[in-house]
Amino acid sequence: MPTTNQPDTNPAPIATISSLAAHEGETVTLRGWLYNIRSSGKLLFPFFRDGTGTIQGIVPKAAVSEEVFDRVKSLTQESSVIVTGKVRADARAPSGFELDVADVQIVQLVPTDAPYPITPKEHGTDFLMEHRHLWFRTPRQSSILRVRATIMRAAAEYFDTNGFIRTDPPILTPAACEGTSTLFELDYFGDPAYLTQSGQLYMEATALALGKVYSFGPTFRAEKSKTRRHLTEFWMIEPEVAFMDLEGDMQLAEAFLTHIVTRVLELHRADLKVIGRDISKLEAVIAPLPSDPPTNSVILSGAQSAESKDPDTSQPSDTAQNLSATRVQGSGGASAARSAFPRLSYDEAHAMLDQAYKEGKLEAPHIYGDDFGSPDETYISSQFDKPVMIHRYPAAIKAFYMQPDPADPTKALCVDVLAPEGYGEIIGGSQRVDSYELLRARILEHNLPLAAFEWYLDLRRYGSVPHSGFGMGIERAVAWICGLDHVRETIPFARTLNRIYP
Ligand code: 4AD
Ligand code: MG
Repeated sequence: MPTTNQPDTNPAPIATISSLAAHEGETVTLRGWLYNIRSSGKLLFPFFRDGTGTIQGIVPKAAVSEEVFDRVKSLTQESSVIVTGKVRADARAPSGFELDVADVQIVQLVPTDAPYPITPKEHGTDFLMEHRHLWFRTPRQSSILRVRATIMRAAAEYFDTNGFIRTDPPILTPAACEGTSTLFELDYFGDPAYLTQSGQLYMEATALALGKVYSFGPTFRAEKSKTRRHLTEFWMIEPEVAFMDLEGDMQLAEAFLTHIVTRVLELHRADLKVIGRDISKLEAVIAPLPSDPPTNSVILSGAQSAESKDPDTSQPSDTAQNLSATRVQGSGGASAARSAFPRLSYDEAHAMLDQAYKEGKLEAPHIYGDDFGSPDETYISSQFDKPVMIHRYPAAIKAFYMQPDPADPTKALCVDVLAPEGYGEIIGGSQRVDSYELLRARILEHNLPLAAFEWYLDLRRYGSVPHSGFGMGIERAVAWICGLDHVRETIPFARTLNRIYP
């Protein structure tokens, strides 16, 4: 027997729409809202939603009292209700069930003269974003938020179950991490302070204390660009691992993304269908390569924990020498052949874009040495059905903290993971500079305030080791996994250049 909010007259157990399979043939009570209603004379078809799903009710005039029939008929969109009815399996229904409604109690009736603003007709995006606090009541938006929750849980779960310690970095910071142009500045008791752009620098500190760590929290960038990919406030998850090199970082990113997509496919096929996602595209991401050699040939360099399930494959690489000996050799190289996700060096990616431009597939040529623009990323990532890892960008266009490639110091030991189907960058990561002298020189070259970075330099003064990590923006991952055009639908309340309401 339910114990809360139960009308005396109503003995039916309280159920949720997502759990109706356990109540087939029973009379249950649902608590929710009227999503929509159709009528055909003596039949009413109210559509209810309760946060876990939607279900169609059926109210034949002959089956209920006139009072109940009229009450159901009076329901307006988004009126809150407590519904009693018998659960009946129906193969045609999206949830697999329909409800033979016996009674409806109205909690609040939305007045007809001030109706719910979002009607089932088409609305423009501006209007919907202006009503975001209501918009996510629609099934598609609710499904996206459910998938988002699973992506966040799976992301944390991957690290929690692989020996990583979650260490939370501060949100108020004294200095920039990802360049000074996108900082939100605030007044910290008379001194300038900034909202964090990334927890990375702090994770480097905790990694040198705890070995394998991650952070997960909101990050902020004063992005003045109006793109489908940019928010000013977004959530980032960032692992950082001591004694891990770029190769280990790429393997970690691959295992991490595979885990997330696997979980979403396990738990959200119904939601993905509501969203309209082509599920086969996600299945392709996690499909093993037919040519996969046995895993014991892979030299893992740090990504694998000491508590690894298969100790035979764990080859500790605990010196800088060992680490730099583990090299990635581009898409044709030995380690790339073992990798399920395709890999391209920056140079190879540039060549691909060059070719595409010559064939008229790209409007503008990619200039060697420049970062990839959105159309470039879109082109590259649409060439693969798995995420593609682009490594070794020119150091000049990357962050100050990235370790130069010993084979070509003009390149940084970094990786961007581009999601397939044209989604572009979802992960950015790198091996970090571990030399005190080089890091200090880089801070000065980038005109960063040395005093604010003294603590960060301490990490190179006291027991410096090669270490690496990456950051994944949750909203970019949600946009890709759900197949959405724009990141504004991936977060409950998007913050963009021109929106901070509601
Ligand atoms: O590539 P980024 O700038 O890398 C860093 O911040 C590193 N410090 C991370 C690390 O190594 N620990 O950002 C990482 C990811 C991007 O790949 C993207 O997914 C997301 O953060 N991101 C954004 N997402 C939405 N809106 C924005 N304006 C974003 N900027 C970055
Ligand atoms: Mg990046």
